[in-house]
Amino acid sequence: MSNKGKVLVTGGTGFIGQHTVAELIESGYEVIILDNLANSKKSVLDQIEKVTGVKPSFYQIDLVNKTDVLNFFDQIGHLEGVIHFAALKAVGESVQQPLMYYQNNLIGLLNLLEGMRNSNNQKLVFSSSCTVYGQPEVLPVTEKSPKIRPESPYGNTKSISEEIIEDVSKVTDLTSINLRYFNPIGAHPTALLGEEPIGNPNNVMPVITQTAIGKRDSMTVFGNDYSTPDGTCIRDYIHVVDLAKAHVIALERILSNKCTSKTEYFNLGTGNGFSVLQLINAFESNTGVKLNYKIGPRREGDVVSIYADTSLANEVLGWTAQLGIDEMVLSAWKWELYLKGINP
Ligand code: WQD
Repeated sequence: MSNKGKVLVTGGTGFIGQHTVAELIESGYEVIILDNLANSKKSVLDQIEKVTGVKPSFYQIDLVNKTDVLNFFDQIGHLEGVIHFAALKAVGESVQQPLMYYQNNLIGLLNLLEGMRNSNNQKLVFSSSCTVYGQPEVLPVTEKSPKIRPESPYGNTKSISEEIIEDVSKVTDLTSINLRYFNPIGAHPTALLGEEPIGNPNNVMPVITQTAIGKRDSMTVFGNDYSTPDGTCIRDYIHVVDLAKAHVIALERILSNKCTSKTEYFNLGTGNGFSVLQLINAFESNTGVKLNYKIGPRREGDVVSIYADTSLANEVLGWTAQLGIDEMVLSAWKWELYLKGINP
């Protein structure tokens, strides 16, 4: 029963978006999805309906198209809030295609903010990223850790987006919570929602599951000569369902006027760092599937090691990640099996 009002989710058919839409619906919100389907499929709407019993309304709009965005906001009426996911998000790809990333991610945000202002819908949860910390000098990173110029254009679009949002908030009624994700992986426990990148995946978890199921012959570990215990990069992997739940909590923090500033920032991680080889080992031991991987050269744009100090989100949002690495890799595997028609 949706009686808490309407929430717009841009990028709502994407990986994190679809999981957040499911949580919003189950929390009583009516969800409107706006997506250009550049990296997702419209059939995700049916999957969301299988999980929640509700098929969210959907508008296929590219946020880069200002006319379409402003027309959308002219007719959509009052929204409780906006959760903005729609963006390109592959670190490696952004190094190769910076212009595409700056155009898509920044122009999209600017058009969205203008539409929100025109329609006086001024409550925003923004999908930011730990990449704004660049290669941190001190670990774990807190929200007060310095923003170091990110190693990739992707990360830089997130850093610049935060500054755009902050500047706009100073002179409008815009209130925002900026959630700095670490590495979202895993899939919905029903195995009906999950990451299904179009084309070759950039992120390590779908590369692992696609290699394990035979969609790819092998995978490459990008470098094992880093200054880490086993030489491979360390990341703070977080279950996508934990991440989705945090978005509902953040939205409701804004709606209940609990924000102590017009622009708040929270790290969303587990606080635990895992290396690439540790992730692969966790996958193999939980699934019983041996992974065919080889060690290759480093990938441009990668930071060596990053993981979160999660105390602010724990204390202020009252949110703590509940699911560990085993559930992350198992749920990702069950989703890959589901995609192949194998009922896990
Ligand atoms: C993780 C590790 C790779 C592929 C992601 C998202 C980004 C942001 C931060 C939210 C790295 C290694 C990868 C492969 C590998 N999240 N790897 N072989 O780059 O940390 O960024 O999290 O905003 O949106 O992209 O994630 O999964 O690409 O890489 O060895 O085939 O896995 O070198 O060390 P990354 P990733």
